[in-house]
Amino acid sequence: MSEEIDLSDKLISDSDAMNRVVKAQAELAKARAEAFALRKDRDDALDEYNALRVAKFPIKQDYKPKPKTRTETVRIIANDVHGSMMDRPAVEAFLADVRRIQPDEVVLNGDIVECGGFLARKHTASYIAQTTYTYQDDIAHGNWFLDQLQDAAPSAQIHFIEGNHEDRVERWVIDETLSNSRDAEFLRQLNAPEFLLKLKERGIVYYRRSETHVPGLPPGWIKLGKIFFVHELSGSKNAARDSVSRTAGNVVYAHTHRADTATLVLPGVGLVAGYNPGCLCQRQPLWRHSDPTGWSHGYGYQVIAKSGEFLHINVPIWEGRSLLGNMLDGR
Ligand SMILES: [Fe+2]
Ligand SMILES: [Fe+2]
Repeated sequence: MSEEIDLSDKLISDSDAMNRVVKAQAELAKARAEAFALRKDRDDALDEYNALRVAKFPIKQDYKPKPKTRTETVRIIANDVHGSMMDRPAVEAFLADVRRIQPDEVVLNGDIVECGGFLARKHTASYIAQTTYTYQDDIAHGNWFLDQLQDAAPSAQIHFIEGNHEDRVERWVIDETLSNSRDAEFLRQLNAPEFLLKLKERGIVYYRRSETHVPGLPPGWIKLGKIFFVHELSGSKNAARDSVSRTAGNVVYAHTHRADTATLVLPGVGLVAGYNPGCLCQRQPLWRHSDPTGWSHGYGYQVIAKSGEFLHINVPIWEGRSLLGNMLDGR
């Protein structure tokens, strides 16, 4: 088809040359039609896969927000659940509080699934027990957690900020597809937590780490009222102090797995604070060996006035008991 036809010594009516041109054009049209059909097959397969995935895990409820009866906004923040590595008693304490509080908003600040199994292949497994983790388990645990959360707070608008564990899938697809962007996006849609956790169907807004969500802010950051939210900001010993000084604003971050708070008064800015409410995953994972982690369980509780002024509390959870839950119960 690509063979060149020399027409220099031929008349335009030369039947052999004309026949070859006509034949080449017909082959080109046929190849285009086949390419179109193949692309359509691929898109149909993806649509069918997505439909099957939703059908297999039906969403239990319609999560449209209900009209508010209070004037202030109540927001709950949870992060670092880590899928199959979640600490079940801590998660149960968190869910029990959510059920009582009935928040208007929930921010899930990343690492809600572990993305273990083959997605952790670049991390050295130190113990046999670590080799039993699967990505499927993580997704099943992630779906269970979101089912429970939406059951506990059916009116809440949920924001889900991608953590470094969720974006392992993005790095894996780039490796697998030799950086071909169309194949990478195709594979991402088949495998990424954003899709396997059915976030769109659940009505949950997802914020990728690789995209800018607020003009002027780094990728992966969002701002709700007077508070910034980001999964990974500072890993230093004084992470809260470092985070608030680098933000020069109120910020809730995650990733370090330990509760921390710091308040600063900055010239020209005023009173600002940085918060990490802690994690909801196991506090001593195998890969930390005998090194005490200092990780702590907890979640964030915010009451926001119409003016935008707010109160933030890091609610500690210790050995499966929420300290706020104890007060709500009058214990
Ligand atoms: Fe984490
Ligand atoms: Fe993280």
